[in-house]
Parts: sequence; structure tokens; C-alpha cells
Amino acid sequence: VLNQSGRIEGFDWAVGSDDEDALHRMIERNGWTIVPPEVNGSIDATKQTVTIVKGGAGRERNGFFFPGFIDTHIHASQYPNAGIFGSSTLLDWLQKYTFPMERSFGTEPPSDSAPPKAHTVYNRVISRTLSHGTTTASYYATIHVPATCLLASLCHQRGQRAFIGRVCMDNPAFCPEDYHDESSEESLSATRQVIDYVQRLDPKGKLIAPIVTPRFAPTCSCDALTGLGRLAASYTPPLHIQTHISENKNEVALVKELFKGSSYAQVYEDAGLLTPRTILAHAVHLTAEERSLVKARDAKISHCPASNNALGSGLCPVRTLLDDGIVVGLGTDVSGGYSPSILESARQACLVSRLVASQSSETTGRENLSVEEALYLATRGGARVVDMADQIGGFEKGMFFDAQFIELGAGVVDNDGDSIQDELNKDSGNVDLFGWENWEEKIAKWVWSGDDRNHVSAIGYLNSPRSRDLHLAAALGL
Ligand code: GUN
Ligand code: FE
Repeated sequence: VLNQSGRIEGFDWAVGSDDEDALHRMIERNGWTIVPPEVNGSIDATKQTVTIVKGGAGRERNGFFFPGFIDTHIHASQYPNAGIFGSSTLLDWLQKYTFPMERSFGTEPPSDSAPPKAHTVYNRVISRTLSHGTTTASYYATIHVPATCLLASLCHQRGQRAFIGRVCMDNPAFCPEDYHDESSEESLSATRQVIDYVQRLDPKGKLIAPIVTPRFAPTCSCDALTGLGRLAASYTPPLHIQTHISENKNEVALVKELFKGSSYAQVYEDAGLLTPRTILAHAVHLTAEERSLVKARDAKISHCPASNNALGSGLCPVRTLLDDGIVVGLGTDVSGGYSPSILESARQACLVSRLVASQSSETTGRENLSVEEALYLATRGGARVVDMADQIGGFEKGMFFDAQFIELGAGVVDNDGDSIQDELNKDSGNVDLFGWENWEEKIAKWVWSGDDRNHVSAIGYLNSPRSRDLHLAAALGL
């Protein structure tokens, strides 16, 4: 049962009561399965979740609800560049691919009837991320206020939960001539305009909220960084903040040079940007001292392994971050990341952790992330990163029913010697089930070889309860 605002009131829709025995009888009667709680439980396994799996008529299709993915770091404006990065690394990639694309969001369309580029791109990125199960995203837009406000409107209209960031960059020494703020005052006033717009659109911040977005230290003056820190703190509750940190070794050296020898984390600390509502993307090369500062301020980290691999930025030691008690979620970092899929980020997080393990002096494999841990980072971890752990990332009472409905298909099909195409069960995408897999194994196959073809529906808080119900009904095949 969901209430009017899309929060879970209970699961008695399944059983007509909260009676556990009745629930189990109902599950049995319908052939429903409950995915083991470990699959999206907490890393220390103290918090349990029940992910209800659809059975009944669709039992043979291996369908199940899973909490919607949370993309804690994605550049909506860079989506047209996904996959286009050549052999560049961060600093030259920004100049060659990224800034020119972002700058183009400020130009008028060629004719009055053509939609602005932002309209086309932002609609597409929302569709694409929803199709991959992302029900919440923390977006970077561009420096342009109208286009950034448009992103907010589109997310709001289309029912994707989102943080909307107007990118601030006022250091002309690092930015292209025609793509930067004229002054730190402009960074602040343009940010304020976007905050006002977003808060007017969704006064309670139920679906969309502004996020203060200094791009990263090299593109910002000290005045802009400090001013933005103060701006975020001046709201009740304080606004979210997002930026990049320690992604690439040359970038780290540049920050040392630009900020008189301060460490990267210290630059943000001095500007008041390290808060419990700050999302720091990448954090590949943080020192132990910086990690303890991040932990002390309870700032959060968005791990973006697909991007770090594509741009050759390095291997983020996620186990070390977790051992230090730092909260970590996953980001696609489109278009440093080539894929808008958080499932791909989860897979890459698993792979990167194994490479970290292979480089450590002892070979215990403790660095390796399990599939369950990667799914945790994609859901509950992300929810903690955006400071919404009590509202999204799982299916507990009182949370929003931000869900994705996954189908792994009917499993093995009769092989009667027909063509290869006939032998494959195309409904299941790349996932091949043979019928003997248990649920842990099915979920592992989903993570390692699933994609959006397994993804039937993403159900966020849609604007009208009616359209939410329609999505739910469609997912259930009703
Ligand atoms: N550092 C500063 N800007 C960016 C960006 O757009 N993407 C990535 N990956 N890193 C950045
Ligand atoms: Fe990024």
C-alpha cells in the first residue's frame, strides 16, 4: 500500500493484513519469492530488506522488484558525448570534448521552431537513465541558468527524483574564453536563481531539489568556493553540495599549485564545502589525512569506476574508504563514464576492487567487492550519499516506493536444432538461465550480464498517483 505521496505504508496489499503467516501463505500460493535480504542489505548486514519478487502468472519470467538505482554523479549536459573520449585523460578531455559540448547549451537553436539543445538532450538523458532503473540522479547541468531550470522542469514533469546543479566556474585561467562565469558574484547570483526556480517548482523538495555545484577547485576562485559554501549553509536545512575531488594525478598536482600547497580536501574544507550533504565525486587519490578529514566532516563519496577506467584516472580504493567509515555511493559520471547505467557502474566497481586487490602487497582479496555490496552501493549507499537513507534505497515502511521491475526471462528454451537466433531466449537480453540457479545466482547473473532489456519499468514518485498506479500495473502485467 502506497500513500498519496508514494510512500510505502505496508505490504498488506499482498496479504490483506500484516500477519506474517498470512504473508507466507500468500507468497506460497502465488509462487512469489523473496530475494535474500543480503542482496540489498547493508554492508554490515544489520539492516534487512525484503525485495518482493513477482510470481504467479509471471513466475517463469523470473521477475522481481528491486529498489531504484541512485546515480550520485552524472553530467546531464555531457550525455551526447557518452563513448566519445578517444585516448584523452581528464584535463585534456575537459578542454577537448567537455567544455565545447557544455558551452553549446547556451546558444540559440537555429530556427524558432527548433527545440533548444537542452530540451532534446535532457529529455533523452532522463528517458535513458529511467530505462536503466535510475529513479534518483544528482545532475550537473551547465553554467546556463535557463537550460538548468529546464532540466529541473523536465525531471519534475517526468517523475525522476533529482538534484539539479548549475555548474559554477569563474577561473578564466582554466576555462575556455567563452564558457565561464564573469566573476564569483555571477557564480553566486546565477546559483541563487536556479535555487529559487527549483524551490518554487517543488517547494517541499519531494521530487527535485537544488544542489550547489562548484565544478572543481581548478575552475573556481577562492571567493566563489567560499561564497558557495556560505550560500549552501544559509538555507534551512542546508543545501546539498557537489563537486569533484582527487580524480587524476595531474589534477591533484594542479590544485596544489593553484592553492599554495594545500591538499585538495583542505581547499574544500577552507571554503566550508565539506558538509554531511556534500557529494565528492571520484576520490581516487585521497591521502589518509584527507580521508580522515572527509570522514570527520561526514562528507560523502561518489565512486565512478566506469569513468575512472575510461579516462585512465586510477583505481579508487573503495574498501579503504568503507573501512575508514566513509559513506560511498555509485555514479556513472556520464560522459567521463561511457554508460548511463548504474548496473554497469556496479559491475565496474566489482572489477576495480579486484584490481585494487591484485595490487596490494598481501593477496587476501579483502578488497574485492561482492555483487551484494555493489548493489548496496547502487541503492542504500547512494541513498546515504544524498542524505535520504530513510526515504529511498530500500523497501521499508515509510520510504518512497522508488522501484525498478526486473525480468530475467523464462530461462532455457527448447533447443530443437533451429538457428542460433531461435535457440536464444531474446526476452532475457544477455542473461541465460538454465532453471537450476538459486536467487543469489540469478542476481549475480543480472549484475554481470544484465542490461536495460531486463528492465521492465522504473517506478519513481510520479506526479500523479494515477500515473504511478499505471506504471505499477504495467510492471505487474495487470
Ligand atoms: N572535473 C571537473 N569537471 C569534470 C567533469 O565534467 N567530469 C569529470 N569526470 N571530472 C571533472
Ligand atoms: Fe564528473
